[in-house]
Amino acid sequence: MNTQPDDILKLAVMVSGGGTNLQAIIDSVADGRIHDTRIVRVISNKKDAYALERAKKAGIETKAVARTDYKDREEFDRALLAALDEAKPDLVVLAGFLVVLSKEIIRKYKGRIINIHPSLIPSFCGEGYYGLKVHEEALKRGVKVTGATVHFVDEGCDTGPIIMQKAVNVEPGDTPEILQKRVMEQAEWKILPETIDLIARGCIKTGDA
Ligand code: GRF
Repeated sequence: MNTQPDDILKLAVMVSGGGTNLQAIIDSVADGRIHDTRIVRVISNKKDAYALERAKKAGIETKAVARTDYKDREEFDRALLAALDEAKPDLVVLAGFLVVLSKEIIRKYKGRIINIHPSLIPSFCGEGYYGLKVHEEALKRGVKVTGATVHFVDEGCDTGPIIMQKAVNVEPGDTPEILQKRVMEQAEWKILPETIDLIARGCIKTGDA
């Protein structure tokens, strides 16, 4: 039953790991940097994801949908879709979610799924580029500037329309871990809440474009 007033943006956040991007959203909703928004469910494909602890501490409903609990990929995908549908979200946020969404989910939530990627797309993205690997490749290439991107999710891998980006300097002596932390602190944890706030305030249109 929809108990929210119409003007509240209902978020479902999908996570797989530590949940620092989820925490940035939780904190931004709490301190008002994100307006008129409520996280209605946090969904993880990992039962032990620390992101689920963060959600529970914030009093947010959680749902773990683990691949090993389902006989095949199709059944797992159906369970993920059901976990989303039950929450009736206006917006789905992939915050370090490492599962490729099924075409059915992407079509059903077309234009209402956003993802945070830890590079300036189209650099260092696509198949296999996630987590530390992204920063390892940026350092290997020798780029002087990297950053993060928020984009709409389409049926490709990191190929949907770009919404917001923020650049971060690469410093001499950076390791992948140091660079990852700087990109999170200076870019990811800023542009993901900022994008959600703009969507909540109607400044960015979502849905079937
Ligand atoms: C972040 O680097 C994010 O950009 C990438 O996966 C990592 C997730 O971190 N998609 P966290 O779970 O939000 O801490």
